[in-house]
Amino acid sequence: MATAEPIYQLATTVQVYDNIRTVEAQLRNCKIESLPERYLWPAEVVENPKPANDEAVAKEEAQNLSIPVVDLAEIDGASEEVRGKIARAMGKACEEWGFFQVINTGIPTTVMDDVNTSAREFFAFPVEQMEKATEPPGKPLMGYGGRLSFLSSKVPWYEYLGEFHTPEPGVEALAKNVWEDGNPRFCKAITDYCNSLEQLGLLILELLAESLNLPKDTYSQHFDKNSNYRGTWRFNYYTPCPKATQTVGQGPHSDPDALTILRQDQVAGLQVRKGNTWVTVEPLPGAFVVNVGDFLQAWSNDRFPSVEHRAFVNEKTDRLSIVYFMSPPPMLNIEAPSGLIGENQQSVFRTFTYAEYLGIMFKNRVTGDFSKKPLDLMRRGTEAAN
Ligand code: OGA
Ligand code: NI
Repeated sequence: MATAEPIYQLATTVQVYDNIRTVEAQLRNCKIESLPERYLWPAEVVENPKPANDEAVAKEEAQNLSIPVVDLAEIDGASEEVRGKIARAMGKACEEWGFFQVINTGIPTTVMDDVNTSAREFFAFPVEQMEKATEPPGKPLMGYGGRLSFLSSKVPWYEYLGEFHTPEPGVEALAKNVWEDGNPRFCKAITDYCNSLEQLGLLILELLAESLNLPKDTYSQHFDKNSNYRGTWRFNYYTPCPKATQTVGQGPHSDPDALTILRQDQVAGLQVRKGNTWVTVEPLPGAFVVNVGDFLQAWSNDRFPSVEHRAFVNEKTDRLSIVYFMSPPPMLNIEAPSGLIGENQQSVFRTFTYAEYLGIMFKNRVTGDFSKKPLDLMRRGTEAAN
């Protein structure tokens, strides 16, 4: 079970700060004047980075850009030709953006409505109640949390609630800590949601393999129920921030997984890096935002980049995103398939495991030095890769 794995134990030395809601209330009641230092991100992160020489052009470019949309309406029983077309569109989006939105997934509206209601129910609780779901020891990023980041020294202005869906679903134990009766409705909403998202994720992984002319199960075989893959659900809740322009909901990061599928509500906030600028992901009703994580970048031999993204916060409006993360089995060797490696060439990344990658991520947390991104260290030719 995940809790017993020593790689997770590295992450247990965490500083306990005031809850974000307490800070928000202190600001609103003028008990404190400015955001505590830990939430003040550097100007170049908070502001939109633009090419130094021509801001007007950058702004116009950003306004005209939007991440590709892939329509799955015709995927069920599709002819080879139609399926190929969809796969190519998805592959192109991943090569050019590392991101796309997917529409007409066939996931029933009720599944998303129920999970949305469940998330809102949780974050409407007073802090003491939410804290009953506080991260269990040795299980970083699970349960209820916020207050620190595993990817940066600054703290993002958000709260989360999450647990494993696979290999061992954690929702029931979590719900028992929060609700006396274990809230079966909440558990069911999350389980139905995870099962649907898992299916969608498997389909996307198949289509992406097909787009690279690889056997369709090249990636998806590692994510079926018996594979010991790590499937995690997470709600990100961005509570309004009275000093929204000084902080971020999530700092620039790439995802430490293979594939991320995110449902945002109708409030914008997610931004994707495109060259020197950030492109806001427009909320499309019913769409999921899909992005390539670090493992798929390595697995695609660098064809699909795991692109940096961030989330901003608003002064008055809250924002919720519901995410399903798919990470490989911890001990599986990640290596690009031979079909993607030219003759007499080596893969771009050396072989590594998710466990090894997490070890670096948690060590960064402990040392406070985030300059070494785990995936960069796996690139052949870098010091640590030898
Ligand atoms: C994440 C993430 C963005 C958002 O959870 O990794 O990038 O819009 N979330 O919530
Ligand atoms: Ni992310």
